[in-house]
Amino acid sequence: MRAAKTRVSKTVTFWFAIAVALCSCIVASEAKYRTDKNRFGVYRQQVIVDPSGHGNFTTIQEAVDSVRQNNKHWFFINVRPGIYREKIKIPYEKPYIVLKGAGKRRTRVEWDDHFSIAQSPTFVSLADNTVVKGMTFANSYNRPRKGKNKNPRVPAVAAMIGGDKSAFYSVGFDGLQDTLWDSEGRHYFHRCTIQGAVDFIFGTGQSYYEDCVVHVLGGEIEPGVAGYITAQGRTDPKDANGFVFNNCLVYGTGMAFLGRPWRGYSRVIFYQSNLTDVVVPEGWDAWNFVGHENQLTYGEYNCYGSGSKTPRRVKWEKKLNGDTVRGFADLNNFINHDGWLDDLPIPS
Ligand SMILES: *[C@@H]1O[C@H](CO)[C@@H](O)[C@H](O)[C@H]1NC(C)=O
Ligand SMILES: *[C@@H]1O[C@H](CO)[C@@H](O)[C@H](O)[C@H]1NC(C)=O
Repeated sequence: MRAAKTRVSKTVTFWFAIAVALCSCIVASEAKYRTDKNRFGVYRQQVIVDPSGHGNFTTIQEAVDSVRQNNKHWFFINVRPGIYREKIKIPYEKPYIVLKGAGKRRTRVEWDDHFSIAQSPTFVSLADNTVVKGMTFANSYNRPRKGKNKNPRVPAVAAMIGGDKSAFYSVGFDGLQDTLWDSEGRHYFHRCTIQGAVDFIFGTGQSYYEDCVVHVLGGEIEPGVAGYITAQGRTDPKDANGFVFNNCLVYGTGMAFLGRPWRGYSRVIFYQSNLTDVVVPEGWDAWNFVGHENQLTYGEYNCYGSGSKTPRRVKWEKKLNGDTVRGFADLNNFINHDGWLDDLPIPS
């Protein structure tokens, strides 16, 4: 009896072990499969946009329209050099689109709407898993002509980014007021250039700007009046969103505050960045939250350059301790807990 029981349990153990081995094998190959699909695009589709008609489409929007709803595989849209006079919208139900231009200066998308913040963006992406590389989105409504700004300055958005897990490599954002609406979700910007004068990086995104250029325009607003680089919109102390600038260059022809709070718990950190003399000595402005400055998380850490001298900074700027700074400044910690960024197909 006892011997038989042992044999039964041994047999069970044996088959159980086989099953476990099989399962982990399947899980492993499934994981590998998934990675391959992302990294090397086994299911990758590809189309070319060429304004002269030698591609699949002549406008970027037509290429986006050709992507199936609830698309599940990376879809590459290669955009040849040119100036594209169109507005682009990547709708919510079209994730996994990769837009690849020929370079910030060679592939340019322009429009000039300014009716409202929501209506004005030249480029809108609402889908998760959007990747853009090597192109510029411009809202030209307030572009100065011959040094003069003909139109009155109004919010005129170049790009609105509302999806989660979206990344931008060598992308230009050109505008004057409200240039980049970093609206919602986790975003990574690498080697991007963002240009403007007033609130030109704004929204409620949870975003990491790395090796980017922040170009402060001057002259377009009244002489001697400083603009604002960021207007971050965090509303609650428990919210994960905020903007981190790591190893960026802040320069230009105007003067600007590093930020002012669009909402009451605004959070912006400049880390290891070159802040040139375009940054006003006070650094930050409390805007509509005077008296509630303690709610704001504005900080600078290890910055350098002539605009980084802080003796005249507002007293309520946060003095960050090492742990807090590491929490923000570490890319993985701040936006990449689940490794989404490592799975993106970065176009070469
Ligand atoms: C795009 O154009 C190329 C070259 O003409 C063609 O081979 C390909 O099938 C087209 N792709 C689509 C999705 O139309
Ligand atoms: C900061 O940037 C300015 C403008 O590009 C440059 O002239 C300066 O050398 C930079 N500062 C440092 C310390 O790299």
